[in-house]
Amino acid sequence: MLLSCGSNNPKLTGDTTDRKWWKEAVVYQIYPRSFKDSDGDGIGDLKGIIASLDYIKGLGVDVIWLNPIYSSPNDDNGYDISDYRNIMKDFGTMADFDTLLSEMHARHLRLVMDLVVNHTSDEHAWFKQAKSSRDNPYRNYYHWWNAERGKPTPRWSFFDVNSDAWKYDTTTNAYYLHYFSRKQPDLNWENPKVRGEVYQIMKYWLDKGIDGFRMDAFQFVSKDTTWPVFPPGYDKHIIQYYGMGPHLHDYLQEMNKEVFGRYDIMTVAEGAGSTLADAMSLVDPARHELNMAYHFEGMDVGNFDPNYSLPDFKKVYSKWDSAFAEKGWISIFLGNHDQPRMVSHWGNDDPRYLEASAKMLTTFLMTMRGTPYCYYGDELGMSNIKFDKMSDYRDIATLNKYLSLRQTGGDTASFIEFQKRSSRDNGRTPFQWDNSTNAGFTTGTPWIKVNPGYPAVNAAAEEKDSNSVLNYFKKAIRLRKLNLTMVYGNYTLLDRDNSSVYAYTREGEGKKFLVLLNFKSSPATVVLPPGINLSKATLVLQNYPGPSKNNTLQPYEALVYDITP
Ligand code: GLC
Repeated sequence: MLLSCGSNNPKLTGDTTDRKWWKEAVVYQIYPRSFKDSDGDGIGDLKGIIASLDYIKGLGVDVIWLNPIYSSPNDDNGYDISDYRNIMKDFGTMADFDTLLSEMHARHLRLVMDLVVNHTSDEHAWFKQAKSSRDNPYRNYYHWWNAERGKPTPRWSFFDVNSDAWKYDTTTNAYYLHYFSRKQPDLNWENPKVRGEVYQIMKYWLDKGIDGFRMDAFQFVSKDTTWPVFPPGYDKHIIQYYGMGPHLHDYLQEMNKEVFGRYDIMTVAEGAGSTLADAMSLVDPARHELNMAYHFEGMDVGNFDPNYSLPDFKKVYSKWDSAFAEKGWISIFLGNHDQPRMVSHWGNDDPRYLEASAKMLTTFLMTMRGTPYCYYGDELGMSNIKFDKMSDYRDIATLNKYLSLRQTGGDTASFIEFQKRSSRDNGRTPFQWDNSTNAGFTTGTPWIKVNPGYPAVNAAAEEKDSNSVLNYFKKAIRLRKLNLTMVYGNYTLLDRDNSSVYAYTREGEGKKFLVLLNFKSSPATVVLPPGINLSKATLVLQNYPGPSKNNTLQPYEALVYDITP
């Protein structure tokens, strides 16, 4: 673990009374399968990441969040873990991991691991034991429903072809619960032994020196094991019914006492319940649970419609900012491994607008309050691959949903069209290193196709071009790093109902910045309050060359002014 930066500093006044390294950090998320392949098997690996650390350091980021790298049969690309204390064979060995961690720390980069403990793989030793007999000591590590009780209370499953979260198992004539795929049985958190095992796993990795956990699907771990019947249509409000179960806070407080409280780490759970109060209850410092919330309300705006409403988008981010202005902390992200590419989702991947809109979105990430997360490749402007054929897809979510539609006679053609905008595989294509074969990702056959846009969008070309998306990304991070105002300063929304321009100020630490972002492909005008005079302001970041035109912004233009009085 690296020494703490913020928390050892003397107390500052104003907005920065509670400085923490994980608030001031920028997180870079890596999907290891797709980052860099060192051995030509077509799958990214740890040695590939080690070889790329100078590139990552050069971005100016502080933390790497790695998607799961533990042993796994890969039903859900590592989110089905068969051994929590080993490295997936595709990715390398524990010796590679140890090298990765020490090479990262030598560069002052911190490592956050993904911890998947809502469920294991069905190939984990615990599950193999549990399913062998009803009186096996591991039986109670999972949720079972003995068949003589009749059919279990219905529970919806994310990835199951029949959307059924109960799978019948003949060996013991019982059903087991799996919120995700059949190969991802849910752990029984009611069992203190399960919790004890998880704490030991956490300590194992923390004692190696890692710097935190991103806890997968964690809001689902606590279940009401009286299995009440949910009303019809509950599956359309799954977070409400599955999230924030009856003992979630007890478990988190216990975990904090047993593990987190003993280390200076970043702890973030995926999902944050259904309300602002739920999210705050997870990260209110006084409660000693987690330190950063990761909510999905931003992701849900517009349901992948490229014509989503900007005022709705602003409303969400403004609401979350104000709820966390006094205490607690949130993450700011526009993409991850479960989402399409940032530029295709929130910007515009038409070649005319790709660069400008990717830079504009980066400006948003780096000028909001909260910890920004950059998903690998977004710093280059990587876009959705938009597969035409089902056979190109690899993701269990897309593949099983398609099978389900086939079974029920659903509209598969519209589904395939929609996947071009929404499928998780859009965000999982190989990192585009250069313009050589397979974008320099592998010398073998990549496990998933490389985006054909790589000759124009790749790291090597963008490093050389001072106006590239990549070099803009580095500038934007630098601006944040040089100004604590961008981290802690107050946020004020301006021109609220403007349907094209997102305008806001950040103020604190003796400074004030104005951020103007045109989210549309036509020029747009912003109305600023009388106190703000752009002719006296200093432009500190812009994504178009040349002077800007006062209150009129070009398509996807981003402008950041220092307006300190
Ligand atoms: C989380 C992960 C996702 C995974 C699921 C099941 O939502 O982010 O990738 O498929 O959990 O583990």
